[in-house]
Amino acid sequence: MLQVLINKREKDNKNPLVYGFFEEQSSVLIDDALNEEIIDLFNNGFIDKKLGAVNKIYSLGKLKNNVVYLVCLGKLTTFNLDQLEKALMNVNYKLGSELNINLDSLAGNLDLSEVVKRVVTAIGYYNYVFDELQSKKVNNELTLNLITNKQLDFTKEVEEAFNLVTALNNVRDLVNKPYNHLNAVELAEYAENLVDELDNKKVGLKIYNKKEIEELEMHAFLGVNKGSKTEPRLIHLTYNGGKGEYVGLVGKGVMFDTGGYSIKTNMLNMKCDMAGAATVLGVFEAVVKNELPINLQVVVCATDNKINGSALVPDDVITAMNKLTIEIKSTDAEGRLTLADALTFTQQQGAKEVIDIATLTGAIVVALGSDVTGLFGNDQEMINNFLKASKEANEEVWHMPINDSIRKKVRDSKVADLLNSTGREMGASSAAAFLEAFVEEGTKWLHLDIAGTAFTTSPANGQFYGATAATVKSLYTYLKNKNA
Ligand code: BES
Ligand code: MG
Ligand code: ZN
Repeated sequence: MLQVLINKREKDNKNPLVYGFFEEQSSVLIDDALNEEIIDLFNNGFIDKKLGAVNKIYSLGKLKNNVVYLVCLGKLTTFNLDQLEKALMNVNYKLGSELNINLDSLAGNLDLSEVVKRVVTAIGYYNYVFDELQSKKVNNELTLNLITNKQLDFTKEVEEAFNLVTALNNVRDLVNKPYNHLNAVELAEYAENLVDELDNKKVGLKIYNKKEIEELEMHAFLGVNKGSKTEPRLIHLTYNGGKGEYVGLVGKGVMFDTGGYSIKTNMLNMKCDMAGAATVLGVFEAVVKNELPINLQVVVCATDNKINGSALVPDDVITAMNKLTIEIKSTDAEGRLTLADALTFTQQQGAKEVIDIATLTGAIVVALGSDVTGLFGNDQEMINNFLKASKEANEEVWHMPINDSIRKKVRDSKVADLLNSTGREMGASSAAAFLEAFVEEGTKWLHLDIAGTAFTTSPANGQFYGATAATVKSLYTYLKNKNA
């Protein structure tokens, strides 16, 4: 899809030239041959100076490039990497299948090696199309020819950014796929194919089928699967890429959430309920391809939440892998059941630091909307490090509370150890407090609730309909910073 070259093509080939300018500028000097004309366009108000605006200029034989795209980078006074990312939102295959990108003009006074990475991830992200299930395909093949006069080698930066954006777009593909194209068994097959593709001796994989999951006594996870025709899968990936304790990434993999017998009145878009699983698979891909020097595990308990004669019903009591008993108040609070056993499993497998990512609650959408991910955790330093990483990655994350009153409510069952739902108040914190009960003494833990951020149905400027891959960049940056 995307190909990136650095100073490879002759500088003056005919393909379009993408050139950045700032709002404050009253002209852009691209080439003497075109200078007067461009000054004229600026003077006469023909240049759109909104952040991200693309001004198409025909060179009519005065330049080798047939077309120049003048991209407005916004105000120089506020310019930073995040603004650069926004400015590139309209740069994609629609401008041409091969684009010469003048890097120096996009850099302002920013570090060029950081600029290179942002240019590749941003354009790669904006070039995404999900047309797999449409008969009319979009040709979004795009070659970027990065041009710079600086005598620096950006090969490593380009490679890292390319691997990251490839992972981001794979996450989006997984989430955008509807349930009838991606169930739990097929997600496990995806993980197997990913491992084959990674072809790395430091990577390990084990997929557990239903019988093996029963042997592990994961009855919280199995409870969610009871109403399903499709077998569950436990996906376990490992990467031994460095020193130190395992970080365990746990992703919610509910392939479709009908709510179960506590049936949803509106279950549209609930194919996105496996976005946490897609996220951790994407982070794994980026970490391995870029060979971060860490030890990582990925755990996904994959199933759908459906109904038949055997499905869970409210009042049922099930026993989790760690032997805690859970009273089912709502079969629609199924994510925390699957995550509970996934948390136990990853800790049994040696993870000392665990991050779970889940489209867990409607309550987090009410609290934080669709641009901000909710963050919970039990270790302030880890929370701070994650918030710092999310800022660097240009993703909005907000720290939310777990307090003793909600911890108490989660334990307020008359017949079991825990309740899987405590009603309307503090809904997102209640889910987090439930998960916390499965975090062992000494384990550092974060929980990301991406119910609002994983999938967009009303995209704003620079956003796309459908999957966003939210938090993949933050997680990658967090893991990278561990050894920085
Ligand atoms: N999959 C949903 C959460 C969700 C909501 C994801 C909106 C994406 C967008 C989850 O399984 C769920 O149904 N949660 C319930 C919990 C409640 C019954 C305690 C909710 O939030 O209503
Ligand atoms: Mg899906
Ligand atoms: Zn649910």
